[in-house]
Amino acid sequence: MKTTDLHHHTASESSAVAEDLPGTKPLTPQLNAMLVGRQDLHPELSIVRVRPDQGPAPPFRPGQFVTVGLLDAPAEHSPPKLALRPYSVTSAPDKREDVELYVNLVREGALTPRLWTLHEGGRLYLKPTVGGTFTLDEVPNGKDLVMVATGTGLEPYISMLRHFRDKDRWRKFVIIHGVRNVADLGYRGELEAAARTDANVFYLPTVTREGWPGLQGRVQDVLFTGLYAQCVGAPLSPEQCHIFLCGNPVMVETVESELVARGFRKHKRREPGNVHKEAYW
Ligand SMILES: Cc1cc2nc3c(=O)[nH]c(=O)nc-3n(C[C@H](O)[C@H](O)[C@H](O)COP(=O)(O)OP(=O)(O)OC[C@H]3O[C@@H](n4cnc5c(N)ncnc54)[C@H](O)[C@@H]3O)c2cc1C
Ligand SMILES: NC(=O)c1ccc[n+]([C@@H]2O[C@H](COP(=O)([O-])OP(=O)(O)OC[C@H]3O[C@@H](n4cnc5c(N)ncnc54)[C@H](OP(=O)(O)O)[C@@H]3O)[C@@H](O)[C@H]2O)c1
Repeated sequence: MKTTDLHHHTASESSAVAEDLPGTKPLTPQLNAMLVGRQDLHPELSIVRVRPDQGPAPPFRPGQFVTVGLLDAPAEHSPPKLALRPYSVTSAPDKREDVELYVNLVREGALTPRLWTLHEGGRLYLKPTVGGTFTLDEVPNGKDLVMVATGTGLEPYISMLRHFRDKDRWRKFVIIHGVRNVADLGYRGELEAAARTDANVFYLPTVTREGWPGLQGRVQDVLFTGLYAQCVGAPLSPEQCHIFLCGNPVMVETVESELVARGFRKHKRREPGNVHKEAYW
C-alpha cells in the first residue's frame, strides 16, 4: 500500500495534514503528539500510548478510532511522506490525557514498521478528530453483547468494558478472542480479572496454532458449537444477543454470513439489526 493511501478516510485526512503546509514549498508535516508509553507483548505486538501536545485527546465514545500518522525517512530532494492509519482506542473516554492503542506489526506495511522504530518521546501525528460507528450507541440496554475479535480486533471491546462496566449497560458481556498463539492474548490479565470478579463478564480466548489448556480453534468453533451456551449459560439467540465482529476481514464476513443464516440481521442505521462489524483491512 502506498503511504498516501488512507484506507476509508482518504480525502479528509489528506487535507487535514495538507492544511498544515502553507505555500507551495514542501514542508515537514506537523507532528503534534508524542509516544509516552510502549509495552511490547512480543516483538510484533505492542500496547502504546500517544499524548497530544495541545491538551487532552479529542472526545470519543468506546469503539471509535483515532488516526495516527508517521513520517518516512525523506528521500533526497523530496519531502517526507506521512502514512496515516486508523486505530481503535482501548482507553476509556474519561481518561483522555493520552490514548492507548493495541497494534501489531505488519512487516510489509507503511506505518507499523515506522512505529516499531519509535521509542518513548518519539514524535507522531494524531488527527484532532475521531471516527467510527462501531459503538454501543444503537444497542438497547440489557442485551447479551457478544464481542468477537481476531488479533488486535480486541481493541474496541477493552474501551467498552473499561467504560461501561458497573453502569448496568448489558445483561452479559462476552469476549471471544481468536489468536494464533497464546502470546498474542493481549489484555489477558485484565480480562481474566474482569471475568473472575463480575458474573456477567465472560472471557473466552481461543488459540489456533499451538496447544494450551484453554479453548482451541477459530472463533467459529466457540460461537457455533455447544461451547458458547456451555460457557455463558445462555443460548446465542437473535432475540437476546447483539454480536460485534472486529479484526480479520475474512473472519468478519464469514461469521456475519453464518449469523444471518441463523436468523441474525446486519445492523444498519436505517434498518436496525443485531450484527455490527469493523474490518481492519
Ligand atoms: C477502523 C479501523 C481500526 C483499526 N484499528 C486497529 C487496531 O486497533 N490495531 C491494529 O493493529 N490495526 C488496526 N487497524 C489496521 C491499521 O489501520 C493498519 O492497517 C495496520 O496497523 C497496518 O498498517 P501498515 O501501514 O503497517 O500496513 P498497511 O499498509 O495498512 O497494510 C499492508 C497490508 O497488510 C494487511 N494488514 C493491514 N492491517 C493488518 C492487520 N492489523 N493485521 C494483519 N494484516 C493487516 C493488509 O493486507 C494490507 O493491505 C484498524 C483499521 C481500521 C480500518
Ligand atoms: N500473531 C503472530 O504471531 C504473528 C507473527 C508474525 C507476523 N504476524 C503478522 O501480524 C498480522 C496479523 O496477524 P494476527 O495473528 O494478529 O491476525 P490473523 O492472521 O488474522 O490471525 C488471528 C486469528 O484469526 C484467525 N483467523 C484467520 N482467518 C480467519 C477466518 N477466516 N475466520 C476465523 N478466524 C480466522 C487465525 O486463525 P488461523 O491460525 O487458523 O489462521 C488466528 O487465530 C499479519 O500481518 C501477520 O503476518 C503475526
